[in-house]
Amino acid sequence: MATIVLQTRDLTKRFGSVTAVNQVNLVVYAGEVFGFLGPNGAGKTTTIGMILGLIHPTAGQIEIFGQQVTPHHNAALRRVGALVGSPALIPYLSGRDNLRLLARLYPELPPQRVDEVLALVGLSEAADRKFKAYSTGMKQRLGLAAALLHKPALVVLDEPTNGLDPAGMREMRQFIRALADEGVTVFLSSHLLHEVEQVCDRVAVLNRGQIVTMGRVDELLKGSHEVVKVRVPEPKAAADVLAMLPDVTRVETNGRFVQVHGVSGEQVLSHLTHHGIVPGELRVERSDLEDLFLELTKS
Ligand SMILES: Nc1ncnc2c1ncn2[C@@H]1O[C@H](COP(=O)(O)OP(=O)(O)OP(=O)(O)O)[C@@H](O)[C@H]1O
Ligand SMILES: [Mg+2]
Repeated sequence: MATIVLQTRDLTKRFGSVTAVNQVNLVVYAGEVFGFLGPNGAGKTTTIGMILGLIHPTAGQIEIFGQQVTPHHNAALRRVGALVGSPALIPYLSGRDNLRLLARLYPELPPQRVDEVLALVGLSEAADRKFKAYSTGMKQRLGLAAALLHKPALVVLDEPTNGLDPAGMREMRQFIRALADEGVTVFLSSHLLHEVEQVCDRVAVLNRGQIVTMGRVDELLKGSHEVVKVRVPEPKAAADVLAMLPDVTRVETNGRFVQVHGVSGEQVLSHLTHHGIVPGELRVERSDLEDLFLELTKS
């Protein structure tokens, strides 16, 4: 049985009449990259705030490495690194000096650790430039370096790719995978499914403060089905026609395409031609986690 690194039990946070986090039960195992997925306002940051002992839960418990965490009792957090929001580093200090300053909090760290983490996030070259002169991606990478400085066994990242361009996002994903390969457990929140799908072993989907599904990414994908996509001159009219097919579970239009769930390509083709509609293109694709996510988080 894998070791549990992080566990929450009925974790709940209310802000006045708003229940931001509602009885959340999470289990994160050692060495995995765990994705915490949810749309804006789902309660991800609030949950992470509680995990990091920054927000007082209204109810429920958190255990990290088997120890209870509360804002007053958080010794377990010494083995946790976190990046929440944009990194709060000192603008007029260089990347390296920012890390040196932080390293003073951990007297046991060997002096070369600063350069080690700089290399890890690909900032060795830019280490002596001022933080304020860094691009968004570089700032985020330095934030990650700061979170890794004390060799944490669990790293908690709240939307680490927010504001990054596609290349920056890919880089961040590569760092995350590299961390996992070194045995670090990663807890990563995101509202981008695509991202989580590529980098995570397991995911929990949060919607309106509640976990709607949790499991292995490959297991969740097993529940996927085929989607037939047809390009037609009048998508709206074709969608109405296709919605009449008895087994159809869902029809949606997307630009010039109509997407049909629950029926085969042959059924779609014969039904359309029967109604005098000739599709310019027909493709059968597997619905992915994106569809599942939208399905689960639709309000
Ligand atoms: N300090 C606060 N006071 C009152 N309400 C709050 C507070 N912090 C968060 N909330 C509310 O709690 C809910 C969850 O917010 P939270 O920031 O945790 O969501 P999120 O999943 O991180 O969203 P996003 O993807 O936008 O970052 C929202 O309805 C938010 O308005
Ligand atoms: Mg958030």
